[in-house]
Amino acid sequence: MKKINIAIDGPSGVGKSTIAKIIANQLDLIFVNTGLMYRCIGYICLKNKIKFDDEKSILDYLNKAKIELLPNEIIKLNNEDITKNLWTDEVSLAASQVAKLKLIREFCVHHQQEIAKNQPGIVMEGRDIGSVVLKDADLKFFLTASVETRAARRIKQLSLKGQKVNEEEILNNIIERDKRDSEREHTPLIKPENAIEIDTSFLTIEEVVDKMIKLAKEKMK
Ligand code: DC
Repeated sequence: MKKINIAIDGPSGVGKSTIAKIIANQLDLIFVNTGLMYRCIGYICLKNKIKFDDEKSILDYLNKAKIELLPNEIIKLNNEDITKNLWTDEVSLAASQVAKLKLIREFCVHHQQEIAKNQPGIVMEGRDIGSVVLKDADLKFFLTASVETRAARRIKQLSLKGQKVNEEEILNNIIERDKRDSEREHTPLIKPENAIEIDTSFLTIEEVVDKMIKLAKEKMK
């Protein structure tokens, strides 16, 4: 089968990474979660007490650091796998702040395009993949779900992990991140041209994956 590039975009909590991972696995493609780069940069700011809008200091740090965005949801900072530190709400909000900065976005986009260039085929997920990073992707998906559905999924996920959840806080966190991601000046979250939109609100993961795999297999013939 021919290898292809698949771009998956959509808002927070829509299930992009879960779905991208399964699809990449079934189609024997590399899976890369680009949000990890923005999370890593948010984490760097928190750790080093750099202000989220201090673009120059962030870039100075990045130019001296070694960041490796790896397949299967792993990111290394100066050779250390820091992925497990990046899933807190604090880091999520920090990531959405640094993701507003033009030069930071350019830094991340360049890094992500280099990764894709060196692969015969890739499944990449984020907010600007079909519109910027992989503008020429063979297949583009835009996943959506209502805010309530996404909050309910997050609450279930955390409860299953045995974590205490504050439902209102989770809902507000998603609303805040949506607003920041779609209203930012530089490459906001949009449905890319030619993207296939799938509303996942009333679909299971399997149903979404099935739809996407069928379309991908057509392209891979
Ligand atoms: O997908 P995620 O929630 O892990 O992403 C973290 C933040 O990074 C989120 O606020 C959106 C931003 N992001 C982005 O602006 N562009 C991407 N390609 C990926 C993520």
